[in-house]
Amino acid sequence: MTDLPPRCAGVLLRGCGSATPARSISNDELGDRVETSDTWIRSRTGIAARRIVGREESLTALSAKAAEAALQMAGWSADSLDLILLATSTPDDLFGSAPRLQARIGAVRAAAFDVTAACSGFLFAVITAAQYLRCGAMQRILVVGADQLSRWVDWDDRRSCVLFGDAAGALVLEASIDGQDDLGGFLLRSDGSRGDVLQLPHHRDHLPLVGSASHQKGGFESIQMNGQEVYKFAVREVPAILDALLQKTGASAEQLDWLLLHQANQRILDAVAERFSIPQSKVLSNLASYGNTSAATIPLMLDEAVRDGRIQAGHRIASSGFGAGLSWGAALLRWSGPA
Ligand code: ACO
Repeated sequence: MTDLPPRCAGVLLRGCGSATPARSISNDELGDRVETSDTWIRSRTGIAARRIVGREESLTALSAKAAEAALQMAGWSADSLDLILLATSTPDDLFGSAPRLQARIGAVRAAAFDVTAACSGFLFAVITAAQYLRCGAMQRILVVGADQLSRWVDWDDRRSCVLFGDAAGALVLEASIDGQDDLGGFLLRSDGSRGDVLQLPHHRDHLPLVGSASHQKGGFESIQMNGQEVYKFAVREVPAILDALLQKTGASAEQLDWLLLHQANQRILDAVAERFSIPQSKVLSNLASYGNTSAATIPLMLDEAVRDGRIQAGHRIASSGFGAGLSWGAALLRWSGPA
């Protein structure tokens, strides 16, 4: 007698949700802080406004709101979850915010931990979740992508501060044993040798401990970004990994219903769409309203498009996340929606 689980179940995308802070800050308002203009920001990035976490809000609270909306869409109770993955680089607690989220939504049976891969974090977490489902170890998983980069932005650096915003998005996934599979394929990549083009480094002060021993103490710097290098990285690697994914899965660009990319810059979205001759009408974008919300961009966009009826059951979606690390990945997804 063996209790080995059945192997290679499929993965179903059952529900999504999102939450954004109440306060929206327009480009013109930012112009009161740094020397910039609405025209410059819109023409270089496509961004018109961003939401920023306020006094009464938190990353964990936004994550919980997004998670509850996803659970409600799927028709699941929180105590049916086996696992929660919180993709974030900006936790409320460096030891991890996923357990706080778990407690807040009442997912009493679920294990919970953070996944850190910057703007690729959500995609990396979805792929991680899929492995637990595929091997039969778990049935229901919540993946949340949430970031509060406003904590770490240098608000006096106009080259970077105009880009970022705060948000949370959630997706609930279920194992399927009847052959259905919403994850058609994926590829993940990392290149730490190029990590210094976009980083949030820890600064080290050395303080005496005992005798000749010292210990390091410090905090994190602000986001440091070489915008042009990040741009070149994105327009080179994202088309390449999507191309490789299409080849691997045997899918063609014409078969895609939607291109759902990490929302970093409209010019990056346009360049990738052009490379695959995908019409603008199939390229999902909400950059104008939210800017780059890091790990939250993909589920935030997904949720908007599912709820307004653009994405419908059975639609095929090519998604790519990319960012600090450097890290990048792509997945071919299908939206099933609630059972
Ligand atoms: N307002 C007005 N002028 C500005 C601003 C601003 N906000 N920012 C820079 N400038 C000026 C610069 O000072 C420079 O002026 P100078 O020539 O007198 O020195 C000029 O505009 C050009 O600056 P560049 O940095 O060359 O501008 P560029 O065209 O490269 O655009 C941008 C900058 C928008 C940041 C672009 O490089 C980009 O989008 N890169 C990708 C960044 C990104 O997506 N990062 C995050 C991705 S990963 C993740 O999501 C974590």
